Amino acid sequence: MRNFITIEGCDGVGKTHQTRRLKEYCSERGYDVVFTREPGGSDIAEQIRKIILDANNSEMDDMCEAFLYAAARIQHLKDIVKPALNQGKIVFCDRFVHSSYVYQGLGRELGLDKIVKLNELAVGEYMPDFTIFLDLSPEQAFKRKGGADKNDRMESVDFSFHQKVYQGYKNLIAENPDKFEVIDAGGTAEQTQSLLRQALVKRGVFK
Ligand code: TMP
Repeated sequence: MRNFITIEGCDGVGKTHQTRRLKEYCSERGYDVVFTREPGGSDIAEQIRKIILDANNSEMDDMCEAFLYAAARIQHLKDIVKPALNQGKIVFCDRFVHSSYVYQGLGRELGLDKIVKLNELAVGEYMPDFTIFLDLSPEQAFKRKGGADKNDRMESVDFSFHQKVYQGYKNLIAENPDKFEVIDAGGTAEQTQSLLRQALVKRGVFK
């Protein structure tokens, strides 16, 4: 059985924190796991991440942005994800293709079909087995976080963009419910972590 699990959600939902706690749990339990992230995750892909998120690159064309995410993904898959899966490891990836679908396809309004096609080229058969969606609206997420990070080119896009992203996730989940585990991220960090682990037990990833 292959275990390629991606973690998605709007900016500020606590994805990084939850992923770190999950990593600690896995190492305590001795699970053979790789934790990685996108954009980035490997040397070259992290260099592409810097270009994408640099707030000075305000003139970046939306299509250029979409290709850079896909390009970083190709390299990350080659360097990290494919070798780990081929060795039978569990791979948790903080963001993956669904981020491109909703941020570029819907938020930037490039069109979902176009972004799905672009990512088919980048990813091939390496689609996630399922995706954990940390569910919190951008209103609640930014309120909890104390506002958007102005040094982050994506986070600082206007609020309606983040609403389109959130609605985009909701629609993808409604169309493919089997491919998602929706986790309420509105409670305490402990509650969210507990829900997340329960979902992983239900899916047979954890005992
Ligand atoms: P992060 O803050 O979760 O590390 O992600 C960086 C930003 O990049 C975040 O605002 C979401 C965005 N993003 C996309 O727009 N498309 C993508 O394909 C990915 C992976 C991330």
